[in-house]
Amino acid sequence: MKHLLTLKDLSQDEILAIIDLAINLKQDYTPYQDALKGQSVVTLFEKPSLRTRVSFDIGINKLGGHAVYLDQQNGALGQRESVKDFALNLSRWCDAIVARVFDHNTLVELKTHASVPVVNSLCDLYHPCQALADFVTLKEHCGDLSQVTLGYVGDGNNVTHSLMFAAAKLGAKMVVVCPPGHFPDGNMVLEAKQIAAEHGGELVLSSDVAALEGCDALYADTWISMGDDTPLSAIQAKFQAYQINAQLLASSGAKYVLHCQPAHREVEITSEVMDGPGSLILDQAENRMHAQNAVLLKLLA
Ligand code: CP
Ligand code: NVA
Repeated sequence: MKHLLTLKDLSQDEILAIIDLAINLKQDYTPYQDALKGQSVVTLFEKPSLRTRVSFDIGINKLGGHAVYLDQQNGALGQRESVKDFALNLSRWCDAIVARVFDHNTLVELKTHASVPVVNSLCDLYHPCQALADFVTLKEHCGDLSQVTLGYVGDGNNVTHSLMFAAAKLGAKMVVVCPPGHFPDGNMVLEAKQIAAEHGGELVLSSDVAALEGCDALYADTWISMGDDTPLSAIQAKFQAYQINAQLLASSGAKYVLHCQPAHREVEITSEVMDGPGSLILDQAENRMHAQNAVLLKLLA
């Protein structure tokens, strides 16, 4: 592994090794407290963030490294200077670049011109660090990931894509339930189905929440992602049946609830389930740090 743009590029063994290392880190950072000593990681953001920004910053510190935060002061990358020049300059100072960008192509360009590893911390197509943390969380609570059935409900988006590829590579079953017209990208669905078949997993798509029956966990994300200016009022009625609430949880039989956050309470998920006994949402948030640290160790240590 030289970069992390999408989990599609990683083997099952690489993903499992990251998950295992994340779980080890969570138990004890002592053996790794100087692992990134003398190394610096630039974390740059074209979009807002709470979890990603803080978990990378504090996580890098726990490994003895130094994080340099670049906010949206320059607007979208490539405006003040080209993405190529950005990558060439940063590569002279830092040891890795973590980037949250609007357009996946920006990451591809960074990777092309940087001489240091590039990590995708969310783009329009993927959110691989999120999916890694989510499968760390599922492993902690459900055990063998090849036996897990994860149900994603709502808008087919960047998070869905990364979860689909992680599940497929791990041989897990994933059920994606979206309103008509809001399914994940068709080519990615085909690719993920192919990868799932090769690894003993399965990917099922439906617009009917009844398809969630038998899932171990239900997963929600915002119905409107960053960069999309659709008003909630324009889609809320169409999405209402896809809200994760006590009734949907009971009818699916799922024990656990996940959400990558930021969450919109009483919109895509009710407070009752978000704060309820099956909620793994704060574990996911915590595990972002451990999963990302495992990635950084694989890339840099
Ligand atoms: N889940 C996630 O990436 O959160 P932030 O947007 O706050 O970083
Ligand atoms: N799909 C959401 C995820 C936020 C972490 C977005 O892209 O805004």
